[in-house]
Amino acid sequence: MRNKDFLWGVATSAFQLEGSPYADWSTWDSIFSLNPKITNHYELYREDIRLIKNLGVNSYRFSIEWSRIQPSEDYWNKEVVRHYQKIINLLNENNIKPMITIHHFTHPVWFITKYPWHKKKSIDKFMEYVERLIENINNVDYWLTFNEPYLLILGGYIEGCIPPGYQNLNLALKAMKNIFICHRQIYDLLHLKNKNSMVSIAHNMAVFAPWIKCNPFDRLLAKIAKRFYNHSIIEGFMDGKISLPIPFRKTMEIEVPIKGKLDFFGINYYTRVHMRFNPLRKLFIEFRHRDIDGHGLTDMGWEIYPKGLKKVLKYASKLNVPLIITENGIATKDDNKKMKFIKAHVDVIENAISEGIDVRGYFYWSLIDNYEWLHGLDARFGLYRVDFKTYRRIPTKAAAFYSYIINSRNFRS
Ligand code: BGC
Repeated sequence: MRNKDFLWGVATSAFQLEGSPYADWSTWDSIFSLNPKITNHYELYREDIRLIKNLGVNSYRFSIEWSRIQPSEDYWNKEVVRHYQKIINLLNENNIKPMITIHHFTHPVWFITKYPWHKKKSIDKFMEYVERLIENINNVDYWLTFNEPYLLILGGYIEGCIPPGYQNLNLALKAMKNIFICHRQIYDLLHLKNKNSMVSIAHNMAVFAPWIKCNPFDRLLAKIAKRFYNHSIIEGFMDGKISLPIPFRKTMEIEVPIKGKLDFFGINYYTRVHMRFNPLRKLFIEFRHRDIDGHGLTDMGWEIYPKGLKKVLKYASKLNVPLIITENGIATKDDNKKMKFIKAHVDVIENAISEGIDVRGYFYWSLIDNYEWLHGLDARFGLYRVDFKTYRRIPTKAAAFYSYIINSRNFRS
């Protein structure tokens, strides 16, 4: 595979760039009353596509904000669909392949209050939207049905820290099943419309290690976390069955109709997590980060652990489909740290490819600074810094560096 075939990209999500008054997250986090437009990308998209073009990438991953298209259950805003189609057209004119995420964490308020994911009706309501969307959106080959469905379930149904805010394992399992039923239906629809469709989900993968190596409980939790978080979904795509080990309880099994419903596998990789047994915590689990290898921590306290990318790529290669890193990035105000981070992870990809792992793309998260879930505007992931008062975009040194990396690597398989 030559460099030109490899997808070099940047990734964003609509809500994190442009907000939306009709989305569940707008009421979840008070920041939106002060900064409703976040980066004002909705109006400044032309300028941002120019920034993408200047980077020299050949692809751009972004999402479509459902709540802008259907602010209420019986209203469809054609103008907004046209807006997203304009972005797609502009990207295609500039030889930048669009990769669209259909669902990236947010929902219209009416959907999540009346038809939350654990209710059967959620499938019909979501699919009505998706069918109409797919009918009206053209000239896109790469699609991600859901961004990080596991995080949505863990945060929205177990921890309760993100919408819809439940803390109920049974509802979580129902919600998970419904989401995978939708994945299957979307996969089939996209292939009916366009035989060149390349469809996946974006799955967050991490490395899990025990907090104290010789503590058997920490070790057990790390093992369970790895099986739950990284492996079970891969088994779902291979066997149509997901087994979820729950610490100190019996493993839960759910049938999911997703066997083989994948044209590539999207991996979001950021960090290594250390697991600590803590009887005072829910399910006895405490997550921690520590800087063991001396690569440092990000501004969000996450361990920088490039080697881990190789581990997850190796594991995901079991799927026998091309792998694309749909997100990898660092929250830092230090440009040098950002450049080192990018180089270290791209080096790992180069090494993985040289060992025969079929990696076909890398998307840096993110093009510009944006709203970070539950953290606000201070987690600076962007290749371009954003002044959230004036909406000015200012290049970090990492922007030119990323272009240099893209030009200097010639990945072959
Ligand atoms: C999500 C992004 C998020 C990023 C950094 C990923 O889990 O898909 O929306 O901004 O991580 O936390």
